[in-house]
Formats: sequence, C-alpha cells, structure tokens
Amino acid sequence: MATIGTDITYAFELLNREELVAIPTETVYGLAGNAFNALSVAKIFKVKERPSFDPLIVHTSDLERIHEFVVDIPEKAYDLATAFWPGPLTMVFKKKAIIPDLVTSGLDTVAVRIPKHALTLELLKSIDFPLAAPSANPFGYVSPTQATHVNEQLGAKIPYILDGGPCQVGVESTIVGFHGDEATVLRLGGCKVEDIERIVGKINIRLHASSNPVAPGMLDSHYAPLTPVRIGNIEELIAQYQGKRIGVLSFDRYYDGIDPINQFVLSKKGDLDEAATCLFTGLRQLDMLNLQLIISEYVQDIGLGRAINDRLRRAEAKRN
Ligand code: TXA
Ligand code: MG
Repeated sequence: MATIGTDITYAFELLNREELVAIPTETVYGLAGNAFNALSVAKIFKVKERPSFDPLIVHTSDLERIHEFVVDIPEKAYDLATAFWPGPLTMVFKKKAIIPDLVTSGLDTVAVRIPKHALTLELLKSIDFPLAAPSANPFGYVSPTQATHVNEQLGAKIPYILDGGPCQVGVESTIVGFHGDEATVLRLGGCKVEDIERIVGKINIRLHASSNPVAPGMLDSHYAPLTPVRIGNIEELIAQYQGKRIGVLSFDRYYDGIDPINQFVLSKKGDLDEAATCLFTGLRQLDMLNLQLIISEYVQDIGLGRAINDRLRRAEAKRN
C-alpha cells in the first residue's frame, strides 16, 4: 500500500525523480506526474490502465506559468480564469511543443487547470514543472474523493498519497474549449454553467462521446461502479426489481422496503452542492455491498445537478 501523509517535501522529491504522487484537489484526487516528462506521463497511463487516446489535464499554480506551455489564451478564457481560478474549471488551449504528445493523445491542444486546494497549490508552486493528473482511479471507474479511495485501488502501484482530506466539490472539473473566442462546455462538472454564463454569456454545451475526436476520453461508460445502475423513479424500480439484492442511491430521502444499510442519501436537506460532494462516495459504498443492482434517480438539472445527472447517466451506460 502507498504511504498516506501531508509531506509536501517528500511529494516534491518523488515528482522530481519521475515518480507519481496522488494529489488532493477540490474536485477529486489526481494521479500526478511531471507534465514535461514523457516517462512520468507514461507511468500515469500504465498505473491507471488508461488507453493512450484519452488525454490528461495539466495542473499549474499561476496563470503566468501557463504561457510556458500554451500558445495563446483567448480573451474569454482570461475572463473565466479571473472569475474561477483557482477552481473546478479546466480550459483547453493550443499547446506548445514542451508538452509531450502523450499528455494530449496527439491533439494540438492541452487541457489546463489551476486547482483550489492549499496543499496542492503549495506543491505546484514549489516545483518548476506543471503536473499532468487524471483522476486517481483505474480507467472507467468512479473517481476518488478521499485519500483512502485512492489507496484502495492504486495503493499497490504508487509510493505516496498526499492527504488533503475529503474533496469539497466532489465531481470533476467543468471543461471548456474555445473556437476562436467562442467558448463551449465539453464536460459538465464542478463549475456551474450558470456561473460561467454570467461571465461570458450564453455558452454552447457539446458533451462528447467516444466517437468525438475533440475529447476522446469522454466515453459514455465513464465514472461507473461495477454493480449495474438503473436510473428512474425509485419506487417503481424497487417494485420492478423485487427479489434482487438492491441498493438505493437517492437524492434526499430513504425508501421503504429496502434495508437502510443498502441505501445512501446524497443530501437530506435536498442541496445539490452537498449531493455532488458525496455522489462518488455513495456510489463506492454501494458498490462494495455485493448488490445485484443500484437504483438511483436524476436530480434537478440546474447548478451541480447537471454534473450529477451526467455522471449518473454514464454510470448507467456501463450496464451490459
Ligand atoms: O477535476 C478534474 O478535472 C480532475 C482533477 C484531478 O483535476 N481530473 C480529471 O481528469 O477529471 P481525467 O483524466 O479523469 O479527465 C480528463 C478529461 C479527458 O478524459 C478528456 O475528456 C479531457 O479531460 N481532455 C483532456 N485533454 C483534452 C483536450 N486537449 N481537449 C479536449 N478535452 C481534453
Ligand atoms: Mg477520470
């Protein structure tokens, strides 16, 4: 198992030796390596068992440092950066050659983010390269939102997990791409579309599937637990699947007819932000109960509800 701790100096040493370190962010934990070093980046793909067509996000601490590895930052991106960085927003820019092609799966663009987590920002400031970091889970599985989640799945393959406590946002960053100065949301996530629109006006949402070369990584079956998931009206689904070992992941209340041990309520007070924070913990807990089916429901499609619904839809898409 990996060592878990808060030793930034040790994390710094490992990263300088081309090793990987799991890092906390406000969204989910990342599996980090030197983004300028192809060997480190190759290790990330290997540890995650991630296909090489799925590009990584590059994390840094300051807007000024981004110029070192991107060609051009559109005006709207500056506005978004000012409003939301550090924070749960990733933006895609034309890349410079210093970023190895492996990071971007051969694309001429690179996804960049300044995460909002004190420990990780301190680490990023101390090193002289940015960190490539996908979510620290095996490819296709639910992202980790606690250090122990990382240790359970990748602990045998990495030396160190920087423990920053439970992630405050709980879903991955919102990804925004640019065509000229026109912004498009490519992945729904922790930065609310409504907040983005307050800065740049009405924005297109074009969520890509595996067939879309713009972001090859957004497979429909991402973020999925191993247990099959069905989404709909929870009471109807419970009736429909009577006799099966069922778990329920609900928005705000417990349901009759299912052992409460097999139920996870995302937010008893019905708050979408709180629901997002514990979504992946809920999916993980239910996934460990050896159930035949996890039943869940969509939430209101506003604010972080959009990201929650997106992850639930992808979790259900995994069924076979
Ligand atoms: O919140 C997050 O974004 C977390 C934390 C660790 O920062 N990271 C994360 O990384 O979710 P990952 O690898 O699980 O998702 C990265 C996704 C890729 O699957 C792809 O869809 C998109 O970012 N991406 C990366 N590079 C891209 C590019 N050049 N153009 C378009 N999309 C890109
Ligand atoms: Mg991921």
